[in-house]
Amino acid sequence: RAPVIIAPSILSADFARFGEEVRAIDEAGADWIHVDVMDGHFVPNISFGPDVMKALRPYSSKLFDVHLMIAPVDPYLEAFAKAGADRISVHVEAGPHLHRSLQAINALGKQAGVVLNPATPVSSIENVLDLIDMVMIMSVNPGFGGQAFIPQAVTRVAQTKALIGDRPIHIEVDGGVNPETAAPLVAAGANALVAGSAAFKGGPAHYASNIAAIRRSA
Ligand code: DX5
Ligand code: ZN
Repeated sequence: RAPVIIAPSILSADFARFGEEVRAIDEAGADWIHVDVMDGHFVPNISFGPDVMKALRPYSSKLFDVHLMIAPVDPYLEAFAKAGADRISVHVEAGPHLHRSLQAINALGKQAGVVLNPATPVSSIENVLDLIDMVMIMSVNPGFGGQAFIPQAVTRVAQTKALIGDRPIHIEVDGGVNPETAAPLVAAGANALVAGSAAFKGGPAHYASNIAAIRRSA
């Protein structure tokens, strides 16, 4: 199989040194840069918005994998596209018309993803498969880094894999990924793993070994 894609979440970076942190995690071997945007409404935490992301864009040329935890999300899609997102992922619950949100992302020339919360049925993506290049399976309830992995995510990855068949759609898992939880996820069909606390723990001197440890165990 293809090597697993590691997408460190910069939510776990040192925000006081944000640009340097993005550069450091890129140089440490990140495949994608996972950008967590939280609105304090859809999720019980606030992170940062499109202007901050735009300021980070020059610090890495890797794919910016933007995870929008915003509701309603439609009014913000264009701002994130213009700020340098490569892929924009939205939650099933982020507005009244998921299909329309995904059409809008495609119309902006960006890759589109759908995010499934732990309680959201995998079947909720079956009518939008032609509009997306990724499904993101949440293995925590969104809002914070460093939460405990919900093991049922492994079953949901397998269900997603069965549903997408041989379509070219990534399956990414987000939340509580570390060298212990990575292996069963990849065995079930995940090909991309987000890691926040496990990637950034210990500071910049440890980023390369943190990423390598997840890659090795997956
Ligand atoms: C949670 C975010 C995740 C989170 C991952 O709402 O979407 O991307 O930052 O952090 P860890 O890997 O620490 O669970
Ligand atoms: Zn995320």
